Amino acid sequence: MIQVLGSSAYTGELRSPQSRGISPLFRGKISVGEASLRCYIKPMPDTVKLGKQVVENREVLSEALGYTLAKAANYAVPDAAGIIMLKREQIPESVLEHLNAITPGGLQQDYLAWFSQDMQHPSLLKRHIDDAPDFLKDLQLKRLAVRLAAHPETPAIVTFDEWTENSDRNLGNLLESADGKLTLIDHGRLFRLPIWQAATLSTSGLPLSNVIRELVDACTPHWSNKTPTKAARAMAYNSLAGTWRKDGQAAARQVLEEFLDSSDVTHVIAFLESRLEPAHYNKVVGLLI
Ligand SMILES: Nc1ncnc2c1ncn2[C@@H]1O[C@H](COP(=O)(O)OP(=O)(O)O)[C@@H](O)[C@H]1O
Ligand SMILES: [Mg+2]
Repeated sequence: MIQVLGSSAYTGELRSPQSRGISPLFRGKISVGEASLRCYIKPMPDTVKLGKQVVENREVLSEALGYTLAKAANYAVPDAAGIIMLKREQIPESVLEHLNAITPGGLQQDYLAWFSQDMQHPSLLKRHIDDAPDFLKDLQLKRLAVRLAAHPETPAIVTFDEWTENSDRNLGNLLESADGKLTLIDHGRLFRLPIWQAATLSTSGLPLSNVIRELVDACTPHWSNKTPTKAARAMAYNSLAGTWRKDGQAAARQVLEEFLDSSDVTHVIAFLESRLEPAHYNKVVGLLI
């Protein structure tokens, strides 16, 4: 379950993040029940520019839905996460500057923000690439891709991203704990891009890539076509279908209903469900029976 909090739950800024992606981001303390949690916080504009048009920004919903689906399917995600409404004056100045540059029509009075508890382990990007000397970065990337080809969690992660059309599972969006386990963060690009429309999910034509699968295939040729990978991916889909039926669907519906009308909720649920049909996923993973 995700938290949905008012601005009074925000209790102050923390040291700024050591690594960041492309979004306005800061660290701060948020009260959740009795606890005061150290969190990464991403405020998001209500709308974004698409050519000359201004369209609804679905990034907060994408984050909430991706987190909910991943958690229901037993993937590792930050222990606590959710949506918080922030007043402009609660947002650090440097983050406001960034928001000002990307908010159509100038700064909003308040922002919906996605927050996730600081898991205190680095992303694969930070740990293996960013911290390596420049001349070693390419080599490190190849080494990491080869390690991911043999990592027991990779087939399931690639499969989750394929199911939810996450086009942005870059190495900054997987956190690695000391024992090598991977935690999923950042679902802002679910359904390809945050400008998705519920009724046209299957025909949107928005660009799509499966970043981890492409990286691994580039360094371990035919990885995704090898029988053990295909079998592991089919098993991952089968398990996604099971947890979807058990409580994933109900949890997803609850999140979607916060943002969408009932016919759009139905479209999204039907899209996700259709991709969990064995006839669909066996074909996708390359297991033709
Ligand atoms: N809950 C978290 N715990 C630990 N690190 C995090 C967490 N959330 C974000 N980060 C760090 O911040 C970086 C940027 O966050 P992310 O959500 O991926 O934003 P962006 O949309 O800019 O890619 C991540 O690559 C990661 O290093
Ligand atoms: Mg990211």
